[in-house]
Amino acid sequence: MVRRLLGRRPSAVGRAGSAFAPANIALCKYWGKRDEELHLPITSSLSLSLGRLGSEIRLAPCTQGDRISLNGRRLAPDDVFVQRATAFLDLFRPVPDFFFEVRAKNSIPTAAGLASSASGFAALTLALNDLFRWKLARRALSILARLGSGSACRSLYRGFVEWHAGQARDGMDSYAEPLAATWPDLRMGLLLLSEKEKPISSRQAMQQTCRTSPLYGAWPAQAGRDLATLKTALRHRDFVALGRTAEANALAMHATMIAARPAILYWWPASLAAMRQAHQLRADGVQVYFTMDAGPNVKLLFLRRDQAAVADAFPRMKIVRPFGR
Ligand code: PMV
Repeated sequence: MVRRLLGRRPSAVGRAGSAFAPANIALCKYWGKRDEELHLPITSSLSLSLGRLGSEIRLAPCTQGDRISLNGRRLAPDDVFVQRATAFLDLFRPVPDFFFEVRAKNSIPTAAGLASSASGFAALTLALNDLFRWKLARRALSILARLGSGSACRSLYRGFVEWHAGQARDGMDSYAEPLAATWPDLRMGLLLLSEKEKPISSRQAMQQTCRTSPLYGAWPAQAGRDLATLKTALRHRDFVALGRTAEANALAMHATMIAARPAILYWWPASLAAMRQAHQLRADGVQVYFTMDAGPNVKLLFLRRDQAAVADAFPRMKIVRPFGR
């Protein structure tokens, strides 16, 4: 696949390559693969990129093995990110003893399950495109980023992004695309509730859920309906429909995990308290909804007009303006 996308491009190696990619949070989740190796999803998904929060990567050729650092600290070879990044870089070495120095900077807490692997692999793909002067189109880059981490294919774009599940076995029709909608008043609030290491990675959790959860069978059709509802909500700028659907979609994903055997439960008491508080705020007339990924942290969705009320209730929340206003 990599060879097909890169074609007969000469591998002109520049002195360095660099790129930035935003983190993204799914409003309709990617949950379940139809191909483990190619990271092909069972369903399409829809996300919102987090503006300036994400990963910046500088890449340069080096000798004697890959050297990978994060926020100025050299990572050990047995670090999970190093192993995944090295396996990804293996796909692109012009000769087997070509090595990379990778300097990554994350403006989003790395250990917190706030989608840093998505921005990391997207930035790495863009930096490779720069280093090797591939001049590939975004769609092809999206397919390549997907090989690092599924959700990374969505981090190549700003704003709202749809990842088409595709049907082809080779995955050439499984790529992300930006949606035309913008929404300057939309806010996302990040609640960092636990920095403890996750009990199980999203990759493993996805696999275990598909294999063992009696509720997974209901997921693909529901995700399809949620995606359609979200796209309509975006077209009509209907915030209540957007928030309600994103929240229900996240809870449905967690329901499939909770029913897996053994159960996968990412929630901490603080996660549940935040969800309850969001519900209480809604009962009091503040339009705030939440979403959660494969981790304990909660992300809130609200509009600028409710920002003061939400910030009052969640004083430690980090506010993101996805459309930069
Ligand atoms: O891209 P991965 O393998 O880290 O999976 C991401 C899965 C979720 O974050 C839970 C959902 C999503 O669509 O981002």
